[in-house]
Amino acid sequence: MTSSSLNSETTNKHSTFEKDILEGLEAIPKKLSSKYFYDDEGSKLFQMIMNLPEYYLTRSEYEIFESYKENLYNQFSKDTKTFNLVELGAGDGLKTQVLLSHFVEKTIPFTYLPIDISSEALHQLKTRLNKTIPSLNFEGTEGEYFEALAQLKTKNNSNKEENTRNIVLFLGSNIGNFGNEQSLDFLKQLAQTLNQDDYLLIGFDLKKHPQIIKMAYDDATGVTKAFNLNLLQRINRELNGNFNIEKFDFYSTYTPETGEVRSYIVSATKQEVTLKKLDKTINFEWGETIHTEISRKYSASQMKEIATEAGFEFIESYTDCKGYFMNMLLKVK
Ligand SMILES: C[S@@+](CC[C@H](N)C(=O)[O-])C[C@H]1O[C@@H](n2cnc3c(N)ncnc32)[C@H](O)[C@@H]1O
Repeated sequence: MTSSSLNSETTNKHSTFEKDILEGLEAIPKKLSSKYFYDDEGSKLFQMIMNLPEYYLTRSEYEIFESYKENLYNQFSKDTKTFNLVELGAGDGLKTQVLLSHFVEKTIPFTYLPIDISSEALHQLKTRLNKTIPSLNFEGTEGEYFEALAQLKTKNNSNKEENTRNIVLFLGSNIGNFGNEQSLDFLKQLAQTLNQDDYLLIGFDLKKHPQIIKMAYDDATGVTKAFNLNLLQRINRELNGNFNIEKFDFYSTYTPETGEVRSYIVSATKQEVTLKKLDKTINFEWGETIHTEISRKYSASQMKEIATEAGFEFIESYTDCKGYFMNMLLKVK
């Protein structure tokens, strides 16, 4: 990549951020995309969330990988000479490391291709894996899922003759950040991008006692609140804003009927915020909300239904001992 193409990409990224933030703050009701949580500080705060006693998701998926890593290797390596493990929204990849460490001991060669919008997350991941699994073939990409999917398509075309299976990992309940229709569209696009017989291993959170879910997204120590409010700090830094974090609060709610956790930043007073870089002023009423995140919970049958409609065939599913979380292995039809 030439330095000029890198510069224009950076500029594009900045202007998309500016556009999305302004559109979101001027919308009624106000909203901000959770994909912008993950600046350097946001990625660190999310790592803290994953270690919270209330946030069972990471521990559950970790347990599933420890229990089923051999089973997954056998599925992934069946009838192929090599495979690509493409992880969408890899984050710190701590759970994926369980699989990677196991797979490098085996005979079939593979490449790990993590994709993340957060450069900090990718940088940390690369540094750690270089140390812990030096023999790993690692090809990281900074970018959006959908840009990355386009890159995958190019890769698919050049790999066609090489008998390489693509296996997409979409873990940690990342699918939960989409609304119902969005998740179907996303899975459809993914199925169309992949080749027949490629795999998707999707990790999603199961519906369960509402109190357990509620606590996972509104922890007692306030790390989730800090994670949400950090987005305002990011806006202050990148758009020369003057959000006073002390004047904003956090609220989250779980509705069992829809399976949706919805999270909000709340204005604790009537106030005015200026974004100097955009020459804009945003007004907030007392108690006005900014919607930041959906975390949708599924039943196994719901996910099977969506995946089948999107163009996948069900192969197997795996749960932790408490039955809190599920990984489902799917094949492109
Ligand atoms: C909730 S974390 C989960 C990380 C990891 N999958 C796990 O299971 O621990 C979400 C990760 O996805 C990344 N992400 C969110 N939206 C994204 C997008 N639209 N494109 C690429 N990466 C995204 C974030 O930067 C973050 O690292």
